[in-house]
Amino acid sequence: MTALPGHNALYLPTECEILSVTDLTPAEKLFRVRGTDRTPLGHLPGQFVQVSLLGWGEAPISVASSPTRDGYFELGVRRAGTLTGVMHELKAGDTFGIRGPFGRPFDLSQLRGRDLLLISGGCGLAPLRSLIQYCEDRPDEFGTISILYGAKNPQSRLFKEDLTLWEASARFACSLTVDSVSGGDCFSGSVGLITALIPPLTFDPENTRAVVVGPPAMYRSVIEELEKKGLSSDRIIVSLERQMRCGVGKCGHCTIEHLYCCQDGPVFRLDEIEHLRGAL
Ligand SMILES: Cc1cc2nc3c(=O)[nH]c(=O)nc-3n(C[C@H](O)[C@H](O)[C@H](O)COP(=O)(O)OP(=O)(O)OC[C@H]3O[C@@H](n4cnc5c(N)ncnc54)[C@H](O)[C@@H]3O)c2cc1C
Ligand code: FES
Repeated sequence: MTALPGHNALYLPTECEILSVTDLTPAEKLFRVRGTDRTPLGHLPGQFVQVSLLGWGEAPISVASSPTRDGYFELGVRRAGTLTGVMHELKAGDTFGIRGPFGRPFDLSQLRGRDLLLISGGCGLAPLRSLIQYCEDRPDEFGTISILYGAKNPQSRLFKEDLTLWEASARFACSLTVDSVSGGDCFSGSVGLITALIPPLTFDPENTRAVVVGPPAMYRSVIEELEKKGLSSDRIIVSLERQMRCGVGKCGHCTIEHLYCCQDGPVFRLDEIEHLRGAL
């Protein structure tokens, strides 16, 4: 594997070193990483990298940290199959390859100066965490910021330490929910679907932008609730997941009709994709 100057190579992985590995849940780990040549990744919130393990292939993983945090970037990885299983065996000091950053990021020019509703479910918090950290580090650039997060149960919540800090922070209004709790769980948020968190919100639909990232089942119902509150589809931003190979618009694995999710997305304004079959 070649260590390249910079991380701009489209096809050739750049070598990265793992600085630390933290358990997020029994199934998810957070990898803090930097290029072995110490060159910044150069990403924006919403972008992803292709993680490359020699002999095991590649997997697209969202960058979970903000570019405003210097000296490293972070990847929250769920053990889903072959490559992510091997990745979960890696330790601090081990190396792997990345290509990227790839994909269209959240359009910060559309978000600056607006009130933000940042809504995520499950693993969707990973790309949104990059944006949340960005907002945390540039507080003057945005209006009010509401974070809505839903998970299956208290144990499966990602980034629990961050959630605690965001709940305590005056900068954010944080609403958390889980589908269910069992006897021994200690959880102070609500129990129920994430859609139930939207009706009680009060916001100005003209000046608000919603960003929604989560499992496929979440989008329709969340969007329906947002639309009931007067938010039009040009003010709703989504990030979509598709199976990917090249990450750079060449192989066609990630298409949504005429769009390449890897290049035209993964971030889309809802009005750009709501009419496309199978998009949501
Ligand atoms: C833009 C983007 C960002 C992503 N960000 C993250 C992230 O931050 N953290 C994270 O843990 N995962 C993320 N994923 C999903 C991740 O890429 C897959 O879980 C991974 O490719 C599985 O690889 P594997 O070799 O471990 O599993 P495999 O052995 O290839 O497959 C395991 C199972 O996962 C399915 N699968 C493979 N790729 C995908 C995919 N892209 N979407 C849904 N199912 C898939 C396979 O069909 C199979 O059923 C992202 C995917 C995309 C497209
Ligand atoms: S992943 Fe190859 S075209 Fe998108």
